Amino acid sequence: MSLKSHFLILGLTISSFFQLCFSSYPLPEYDDSRNYLPKYSTNNDQRSYYEFDSRNRDSYDRVILDRARHSRRAHHGALAPSSSPKIVNVEHYVKSQKRRDHTKAFRKAWKVACSTKGATVLLVPKHKIYKIRPIKFSGPCHSNLIIKIKGKIEASTRFAHYRDRQHWLQFENIHNFKVDGGGTIDGKGHIWWQNSCKINASMPCRHAPTAVTFIGCKNFIVDGLKITNAQQMHLSFQKCAVVRASNIFILAPGDSPNTDGIHVTETRNIQITRSLIRTGDDCISIVSGSKNIQVSDITCGPGHGISIGSLGKGNSKAHVSNVLVNKARLHETLNGVRIKTWQGGRGYAKDVVFQNIAMHNVSNPIIIDQNYCDQKTPCSEMKSAVHVSNVVYKNIKGTSHTNAAIKFDCSKNHRCRGIVLQDINLVKKGKKSVMADCQNVELVHRGKVSPRCFQQTLV
Ligand SMILES: *[C@@H]1O[C@H](CO)[C@@H](O)[C@H](O)[C@H]1NC(C)=O
Ligand SMILES: *[C@@H]1O[C@H](CO)[C@@H](O)[C@H](O)[C@H]1NC(C)=O
Repeated sequence: MSLKSHFLILGLTISSFFQLCFSSYPLPEYDDSRNYLPKYSTNNDQRSYYEFDSRNRDSYDRVILDRARHSRRAHHGALAPSSSPKIVNVEHYVKSQKRRDHTKAFRKAWKVACSTKGATVLLVPKHKIYKIRPIKFSGPCHSNLIIKIKGKIEASTRFAHYRDRQHWLQFENIHNFKVDGGGTIDGKGHIWWQNSCKINASMPCRHAPTAVTFIGCKNFIVDGLKITNAQQMHLSFQKCAVVRASNIFILAPGDSPNTDGIHVTETRNIQITRSLIRTGDDCISIVSGSKNIQVSDITCGPGHGISIGSLGKGNSKAHVSNVLVNKARLHETLNGVRIKTWQGGRGYAKDVVFQNIAMHNVSNPIIIDQNYCDQKTPCSEMKSAVHVSNVVYKNIKGTSHTNAAIKFDCSKNHRCRGIVLQDINLVKKGKKSVMADCQNVELVHRGKVSPRCFQQTLV
C-alpha cells in the first residue's frame, strides 16, 4: 500500500471516529425563545399556568452547548492525541467465546470506561449478542461518557439471577452522558409474562424487572435505541433531571402484561420525542414527583395509551405538573390520553396540555378516571382524591372504538377543574356519532367540539 493511501485511510478513520463520537450531539432544538406550552387560562385572571422552570432550562441548554463547543474543539484538534476519545470495547473483556454469560465482561468494561478521564466511548459492538444478568452501571464517572450500543444485549432468562425482581439494566448516578448506537436491548420477557397473575390467575402477583432504568441521573441523552420484550416495563426514568430521549423504538406484544413503554417517575425536565412504542401496557406513563415533561412526535399502539398516573395508590400523595403532550398518533390503543387516580390519594395532577393528537380506533380517546382501581378486590369509596386541574385538550381528532369518546369520571368530592376541550372531533367508524360522559367536571368548550359534555356540567 502506498504512503498516500495509508494517509487516506488514517484520515478517513479519524474523521469517521469523530463523526461517530461527536457529530451525533445535536445542537438543541430546545429553543428558549419558543413557548412550549400555550398560554391558556380557564380563570378570569389571565395568568399562565404553563411556564417552564426557566432556571432548569438554562442549565439544560448550557450542557448541550458546552458539548457542542467541546465537539468543535475536538474537530479542530483532531490530530492531537489528547483529544481523541478512548474506546472501551466490551468485546475485549470477553474471556472466552464459549461463554454464555457476559455480565463480567460488562462489569469490567464499565469500571474502565467510568473511571477513565476525558471523552470515553463504551462500545457494545455491532453484530454481537451479549447475554447479561441484572447489572448496575453506577456513577459518578470521571469520563465524559458515550455508551454506544450497536450490537444486541439480551437478558438472562433464569429467575434465580434476579435477586430483587425490580431491575435488569440500571444506570445510576451518572451525569453528562449519552446512550445511543442504534442497537437492541431484549428483555426476553416471555418467561415473566407466563408467570404473571394477569395472564394466569392462579399465579401470585409479583413484580417483574424493568428492562432499562435510569436512576438519579442528570443531563443526559438517550437516542436511537430499540428495546424489546421487557420483563415488565421497558424504559424507566426515576429521580432524573434534564433528560432527552429520542428515536426510541419499543416493541412487545399487545397482550404482554404491564410492559409500559416509557415510565417517568420523580423526574424533572425531560423531553421524549420521535419514538414508536408498541406494547401491552401504557405507551408512556408519567407518575408522581414528575414535572416539566414534554412528549412529542410519538406513535403508540397497541397498548394502553399515554397516561398520567396512576396516582394516589394506597392513600399516597402525588404531584405531577407541567406536562405537554404534542403531536401523537394512537393506533388501536385501549386509551388515548388518560389521567388516572386512585380514590383516597392526595396531591395533584395539574397544568397539562394534550394537543395535536390523532386517534385511530382508540377505545377511550380522552379519559380522566378518578376512580381508578387496578386490583383484584373492589376499591371502596373514599373522601380524599388527587386533585385534577387545568387540563387542556386541543386539536384531537379521529375515531373512537367505543361510544364514550370522552369520559370524565371525576371525584364527587373533588371535581376536576379548569378542563378545556378545544377543537375536538371524535367519531366512530362509519361516521357514527359518539358521546361525552362527563361527571363532576368544570369545563369549557372552545372552537368546534364534538362530542360535547352536557350543559349542566359546564362552568
Ligand atoms: C397456570 O399456572 C398453573 C400453576 O403453575 C399451571 O398449572 C397452569 O398450567 C397455568 N395455566 C396456563 C394457561 O398456563
Ligand atoms: C377497533 O379496535 C377494536 C379493539 O381494539 C378491535 O376489536 C376492532 O377490530 C377494531 N376495528 C377496526 C375497524 O379496526
